[in-house]
Amino acid sequence: MEPVLDWEQRYRDATTAWERGELNPAFQALRPTFSENPGTVIIPGCGRAPEVLAFAQLGWHVIGIDVAETAVMYQRECLASTGLTGDIEQGNLFDWHPSTPVDLIYEQTCLCALDPQQWLPYERVLREWLRSGGTLAALFMQKEGEGGPPFHCDIESMQGLFASTHWDWGEQAFRAVHPVGVCELTYLLTRR
Ligand SMILES: C[S@@+](CC[C@H](N)C(=O)[O-])C[C@H]1O[C@@H](n2cnc3c(N)ncnc32)[C@H](O)[C@@H]1O
Repeated sequence: MEPVLDWEQRYRDATTAWERGELNPAFQALRPTFSENPGTVIIPGCGRAPEVLAFAQLGWHVIGIDVAETAVMYQRECLASTGLTGDIEQGNLFDWHPSTPVDLIYEQTCLCALDPQQWLPYERVLREWLRSGGTLAALFMQKEGEGGPPFHCDIESMQGLFASTHWDWGEQAFRAVHPVGVCELTYLLTRR
């Protein structure tokens, strides 16, 4: 289950076109929902996403996991400099698991950064990380054309991947257009 590319090098080369430099509008739209009942949230492939800090500011215990050292150091410094706490782990998400299942997973451009051949094991990992009744906030990347990353997360395929035997799908919660031209469709899925 190796990463599809050397992500650390991408941070060092500053070839990180996925970074908005601001909160994802989907997060902003869901902020009232996320504010309701803070618990523990995992952000897989958290990179330097500002949502790590934003969840901590809402009172969540944030666990970020990323393979890239630069991203991990950034998130740790970010939390420390604001006096907030969280657990930012460095490693391959396929080799890691939380000590107890969590309430929420915020999936933002991690799935689309994985080889589609790793998507079935990834779905299993997310299911194991999340408690029954917990929420997967998934921002499914939509893009034209073959190849990746980012890999296109066709909604029909996603409904097959996150199948109704294990997941309850809510209505589409948000559609965000990314500055690089692609868009993300956000759904809140409940783990059965
Ligand atoms: C496209 S970036 C998205 C980063 C962040 N979610 C954001 O919205 O800015 C994908 C991230 O996933 C991380 N990543 C990719 N494969 C991984 C793996 N197998 N285990 C842990 N992290 C991984 C990369 O290091 C990178 O930071």
